[in-house]
Amino acid sequence: MTPVKIDLANVRVGEEISSIDRVVDGYKTYQVLKVAIELGLFEWLDEHGPSPREEIGNALSINGMFTRSFFQTLDELGYLSGEGDYFGNTESATRLLVRKSPAYQGDWILNASRVNGQWDRLQDTLTETAPKNTGFYDGPSPEFLRALAERSLRGEVQEVTKILTGWERFSSAKKLLDLGGGHGLYAIAACQKNPGLHAVIFDKPHVVGLTREFIQHYGMEDRISVMAGDIVTDDPGSGYDIVMISHLLYKFRADLPPIFSKVASSMKPSGLFVSNHWFCGPVCGEGSSGISELDRSIHSYGHPLCHPEQFASAMFANGLVVTKKTTVPSNFGISHVHIAEKVPEGNSLVLHPDESSGCMSCR
Ligand SMILES: C[S@@+](CC[C@H](N)C(=O)[O-])C[C@H]1O[C@@H](n2cnc3c(N)ncnc32)[C@H](O)[C@@H]1O
Repeated sequence: MTPVKIDLANVRVGEEISSIDRVVDGYKTYQVLKVAIELGLFEWLDEHGPSPREEIGNALSINGMFTRSFFQTLDELGYLSGEGDYFGNTESATRLLVRKSPAYQGDWILNASRVNGQWDRLQDTLTETAPKNTGFYDGPSPEFLRALAERSLRGEVQEVTKILTGWERFSSAKKLLDLGGGHGLYAIAACQKNPGLHAVIFDKPHVVGLTREFIQHYGMEDRISVMAGDIVTDDPGSGYDIVMISHLLYKFRADLPPIFSKVASSMKPSGLFVSNHWFCGPVCGEGSSGISELDRSIHSYGHPLCHPEQFASAMFANGLVVTKKTTVPSNFGISHVHIAEKVPEGNSLVLHPDESSGCMSCR
């Protein structure tokens, strides 16, 4: 080996290292939170209340040499409150980190580092020419769908429900279809707002078992059922007053008209169609952080939807007229909601050619 002739006394790392330290500390902080959830720390404190550090450590088999700094980190994060040597959950921990809370986010936190998940295998994710899990039976996993349910409850479900309930015929609607409903929270929330509403959640055969668990959890078995199938080849039924699709269409972006045709056929005349998806644009990368963009791309089969005019035109060509466009917050930036009504039979539509816009990533 040839010796390196460098004057070590003059090597300069510089202040810029602080951002690297923050990144590495971020990873370590994530690990602390993850392990606290996995050890059941917040559940234990919820059950037993504020307790002496030693007692908590013994109950959860945490080596006493680490409890002080481990708990201090969680205190600094705002999830434990310590007084003397007593520690308890903060209000935030009780709301976000105890499973029985409706706002629980633990699965979302754990999912970020799931073995063989997209972030765990980021190098593969970035270097593969096409997203890997595109086969019908490739996913999503129950863990992912639970995490997704928790993410959706950060505002999307609430806002989409407001849009549904704002429709003037919502209170008289009898049947709702949620295509690719997964956890089913959108249908469940809608049925909670209209006691006369029944819903069908359509999803892949290996997913509907988990959908049923959510339906049971919210006590909706008498009004919500599941239908197993493939939206591409199977018929979701007909006579629906409301059809909704949320975050399903990314992988169908190249061939949306057959999906919209199926949606329209399943609806009653003048029924409501609601689509909730991320779109890039007007310019890709505008307004959100790189990590947020990357996360959104990973969760939308490589890229969010593009060309909103073509999206609306494809609906229009299939008898669905967009009456309103709006946005709802999501944790990867805003999501675009298209609200359309099915044109009653006999009413003809004239299709206006649309100008195309958008980015090059999803052509
Ligand atoms: C990203 S998840 C969205 C779940 C939920 N709609 C939401 O917005 O949180 C997409 C869902 O569509 C389902 N899905 C994907 N391809 C499908 C297909 N070909 N037929 C039926 N469901 C499908 C998945 O199983 C999954 O539950």
